[in-house]
Amino acid sequence: MLDKLKLEVIELVNNSDNLDKLKQAKVQVLGKKGSITSLTKQMKDLSVEEKKTFGKQVHELKEYANIIFDQKEGFLKDKKIRDDIENDAIDIFLPQTNLGKGSLHPLSLVRNEIEDFFKSLGYSVVEGYEIEEDKYNFEMLNIPKDHPARDMQDTLYFDAQELLRTHTSPIQVRTMEANEDKTPVRMICPGKVYRRDEDDATHSHQFMQVEGLVVDKDISLADLKGTLELFAKKMFGDNTKVRFRPSYFPFTEPSVEVDVTCHICKGKGCSVCKQTGWIEILGSGVVHPNVLEAAGYDSTIYQGFAFGMGIERIAMLRYGVDDIRHFYTNNIDFLNQFNRNK
Ligand code: DAH
Repeated sequence: MLDKLKLEVIELVNNSDNLDKLKQAKVQVLGKKGSITSLTKQMKDLSVEEKKTFGKQVHELKEYANIIFDQKEGFLKDKKIRDDIENDAIDIFLPQTNLGKGSLHPLSLVRNEIEDFFKSLGYSVVEGYEIEEDKYNFEMLNIPKDHPARDMQDTLYFDAQELLRTHTSPIQVRTMEANEDKTPVRMICPGKVYRRDEDDATHSHQFMQVEGLVVDKDISLADLKGTLELFAKKMFGDNTKVRFRPSYFPFTEPSVEVDVTCHICKGKGCSVCKQTGWIEILGSGVVHPNVLEAAGYDSTIYQGFAFGMGIERIAMLRYGVDDIRHFYTNNIDFLNQFNRNK
């Protein structure tokens, strides 16, 4: 009886020429109500001796069936892969799937534009560290411990020495320090900075700045003025006027803040410029002798000017964006406005 069943199983497997049929055949043989499974149910009427021999035969048949089903399954799977590859010719008449083209983030666009402008004036582009030492972020920039100027920037500290840089100014010191021959410097440094600030429409705990530094002989405020005037016209249009306001930064003396005429009202006064007609775009000044000396430059021979601006701020003014948080939320409708492929 078992030999007959064995032949039946072999035939079933042979006749299964695809995976679905094979699966059905397996249920027919080894499923809950399958032909081999139901043999075990017949055993209850047998004597102990008979049970032993019959049970063994049923077990062997079951193992045999499992093996041939597995083998056939392997064979059919291989065959299916080979068939699929063979049939997978490209149908050139299918309509194309439009995946859409990505584009640069508005902050990258502005950053690239700023870099291109300064590169055209011979500046190099330098990178610094986002995890910075207190020494470079403050101390060597003429901001000693307990100096009230530390309160100008709420800082995220790791410990007494290490912090997340609050501005890109430490790269001024690092660049000058690393320049062993103490030759002239002309560099910009774009990068992320961090502050312990509550996020709102104009503040973010993380944002981007571009720092600039020029060190040479006979550098004065006039060089700074000429450079930043050119820059403002490049970024905001030829008719843009520039105003320099006295200010205070510990690392520059004198220090100035730079305003441009409001691009919305063209200087007449509106809500964007708070009726002043002017909008502040950056901080700058003549490098403090203490900073030059800390980085190993002789301040009686060399002078410098430096500036620092927020990329988000420039982008907001350029594109009329009213909330800094738009830059970080990855809203595709917002980003698509800057997609030049559209
Ligand atoms: N580091 C300043 C800030 O984050 C900006 C700044 C002001 C940079 C004057 C400068 C500078 O290089 O000369 O508020």
